[in-house]
Amino acid sequence: MNTCRLVYRQLAGVLVICALSSGSAPRVQAAEELPWSDAAIQQHIDLRQYHGKLTADQLDSLVQAGKSLFSASFTVADGVGRPMATQAIIPTKRKRPPRSEFARTAGLDANACVSCHHQPIAGGAGDFTANVFVSEGFQLSDFDSTDPQFSNERNTNHLFGAGLVELLAREMTIELQQQRRSALSEAHETGETIKKKLNAKGVAFGEIIAHADGRIDTRKIRGVDDDLIVKPFSQKGVMTSLRQFTVNALNHHHGMQANERFGARWTGSNDHDEDSSTGEITSGDVSALVAYQATLKLPSQMEMNSDWAAASERGSRLFDQLECNSCHIRSLPLNSLSFTDPGPFDAAGTLRQGESGESSVYDLSLYEWASTLERSDQGQWMVPLFGDLKRHVIADTQVAQLGNELLSQRFVERNEFMTAELWGVGSTAPYGHRGDLTTLGEVIGAHGGDARDSRDRYVKLTEAERTDINAFLKSLIIEP
Ligand code: HEC
Ligand code: HEC
Repeated sequence: MNTCRLVYRQLAGVLVICALSSGSAPRVQAAEELPWSDAAIQQHIDLRQYHGKLTADQLDSLVQAGKSLFSASFTVADGVGRPMATQAIIPTKRKRPPRSEFARTAGLDANACVSCHHQPIAGGAGDFTANVFVSEGFQLSDFDSTDPQFSNERNTNHLFGAGLVELLAREMTIELQQQRRSALSEAHETGETIKKKLNAKGVAFGEIIAHADGRIDTRKIRGVDDDLIVKPFSQKGVMTSLRQFTVNALNHHHGMQANERFGARWTGSNDHDEDSSTGEITSGDVSALVAYQATLKLPSQMEMNSDWAAASERGSRLFDQLECNSCHIRSLPLNSLSFTDPGPFDAAGTLRQGESGESSVYDLSLYEWASTLERSDQGQWMVPLFGDLKRHVIADTQVAQLGNELLSQRFVERNEFMTAELWGVGSTAPYGHRGDLTTLGEVIGAHGGDARDSRDRYVKLTEAERTDINAFLKSLIIEP
């Protein structure tokens, strides 16, 4: 518990300096910080100012706040540390504090979001050195080894176009869940067992079987969880929303705990992690981080000189001929550019719709980058992500490199990963979920499992043809 000794009034803000009862250095928790204070968070965001559909100015101010949080180097004055909490996404207590709070393995592993997400600019991807050692944090919360028996090592992916990705996933989820409902009501009305193919935005997700008594057989569902919620984030495809990921990341990397998950309502304590700091991250702070990420422009295709353009054109055709585009689908159609936060599928442990008044709505069409999206005949926005937001088996006994993880995450098989979205891939080396492949050729050659046929065709190409594919993929960049 903090005992607050001193109260200053400084301009409009109120600064409260609190000293720890343990007698350690004073921690500052303030409505507004002095610019030279140790705290990186100058002011917490009050979500009540951002309800409903935001005007361009409101959105801009929220995004700017998110941008500074994303690049802030958090300190103990902000609440860094989780001596008695693990990295688990469900609040979990440690048995004892770790030997040292910072460790590249189990975390705390960084000072800022941007420490890892910076390539080629903030919001981007990361080098091998920025890898994260992902463990569920229930049993193996403390490990000081990079051995894969303790954690799954993952390379940092970029966040450009992430708002569009989440919107696509939400619309796909609605489609899949409607198909489940209609299978169930058909089974109920006819008294027969109904088999329905699951398909969202042209992506096939296997089959669902509904029985007349209301039972559902999920065994033939493919590439998505049985709840039919498309989870587009993490390379495993197990995280639903930017909001959920952001709350996880804040706790895992920085020991910064969001009230909406770690506060008294869920844990019975305002200091679940026992670092003597409370109110570390407000729902408004999380919203600001989400708004920043959700409005990051989408990657684009670069301007090329004529030689490169010609090679890229040939590579692009080969990409389709080899059926790379069966998983890396060039673009998926999106009905609406309205981004609601919290979203419709945010789960327990993340602020949910209706819990704190009206959700905020961000109109992504306000952004200039949105005008670069092509429109379909039906007026849908075509999102050029080169992905399908679906998990696939990506390793087999002969081509096994991408089957390198030993721990399953969220009940997904070890050799299944979500199709990597290839927009921006020209700016985000190294490759593969572990970031241990330095060239595009290596990672394409490492596709096994469901991608084996396509990969075998790639391997049989001439050297010149493989170079053309490189020219195409390297033209898909994040404009610095
Ligand atoms: C130590 C490096 C590191 C730090 C710090 C970090 N990230 Fe990440 N981030 C990663 C890695 C690695 C992944 C991929 C995780 C995976 O695939 O399981 C990732 C993935 C993500 C994703 C999902 C992207 C996608 O397309 O799947 C989001 C969102 C995200 N990070 C947000 C944040 C935010 C917000 C912060 C700061 C609070 C942050 N990250 C801090 C390394 C980091
Ligand atoms: C069956 C689906 C499937 C097919 C077909 C497929 N891929 Fe992939 N691709 C994936 C998955 C899944 C990943 C993520 C692999 C990982 O990192 O675990 C991936 C990753 C990649 C990456 C690495 C991206 C990064 O940022 O690390 C590249 C490049 C790529 N694919 C190109 C291709 C090309 C070129 C082809 C055609 C020869 C192809 N893929 C065919 C599913 C597929």
